[in-house]
Amino acid sequence: AIAGMNGAQAQDYPARTVTIIVPFAAGGPADITGRIVADIFSRHLNQKFVVENVGGAGGTLGALRAARAAADGYTILSGHLGTNALAPAFYPNLGYDPQKDFEPIGLSAEYPELLVVRKDFPANNLAEFVAYAKSNSGKLNAGHAGLGSVSYIGCLLLNAAIGIKPTMVPFTGTAPVLNAMLAGEIDYECDPVLGTLSQVRAGAVKALAVAARKRSPMLPDVPTSYEQGLPEFDCAPFYGVFVPSGTPQSVIEKLAEALDKGLSEESVQKRLADLGADIVEPGRRGPKPLADLIRSESARLMPILRAAMEK
Ligand code: MLT
Repeated sequence: AIAGMNGAQAQDYPARTVTIIVPFAAGGPADITGRIVADIFSRHLNQKFVVENVGGAGGTLGALRAARAAADGYTILSGHLGTNALAPAFYPNLGYDPQKDFEPIGLSAEYPELLVVRKDFPANNLAEFVAYAKSNSGKLNAGHAGLGSVSYIGCLLLNAAIGIKPTMVPFTGTAPVLNAMLAGEIDYECDPVLGTLSQVRAGAVKALAVAARKRSPMLPDVPTSYEQGLPEFDCAPFYGVFVPSGTPQSVIEKLAEALDKGLSEESVQKRLADLGADIVEPGRRGPKPLADLIRSESARLMPILRAAMEK
């Protein structure tokens, strides 16, 4: 990033509109989460924080733009497990280093993923999905938000566990994947629960499994992958806020404090819970827990992903 600003400017922060880059299409999990974060910052820092959707390449185009922005706090990234931890597994020439080129501000939310199929897909649970997928693997279309996105990662874990190689169809986000599924063009996707929740409830698509140990309180009738004998399908990505490295410490602290305050608000907690999020507890907020989580999730998941890619 371009080095930022002097001390007096940092004191005044934020003195003008701040851009929050959401590296996926509008309307999906990353966008909804980014807009919740924008609302928190706007209210607690008395300034406009506006979301800019920069989709493409599994979120890495938007993340790269943020990494290269001036380190002055006026360009922020609402990133996640893919863009800010696991992307190097997919892109040898990523153009940014998730750990060196960003300073974490804090976690915003975590959501389990769901396996969702089109309404008329001939399976109503994971066992039926596996049986059908195995004998029709070549015909299947899986939608995702690009190589390295969390919807791609979820599908990769699922496909490797079953031993199938469907056609993986990339979009700039999972909101357009869902539209394609509603149009019958995509057979299945793996997306954080908030992405498809209302269409699942409306019966417009079917949720076959929660990729976690626990069921989602928002969809209590959907069994987990563990219950259905496929524990390898385990994916609950974190979402977090980042600034380019070199951003003044006082700016980082203001942002972290505002995010913390927002996450303590009852209205924000209710909104996140209604979306199926796991609320970030106070002890896990702020820069350090997010930096630690990036390190531990990278160490834990990189070997699993590499093994899945080789299958
Ligand atoms: C989205 O918000 O479009 C996707 O959920 C992002 C992703 O799959 O990583």
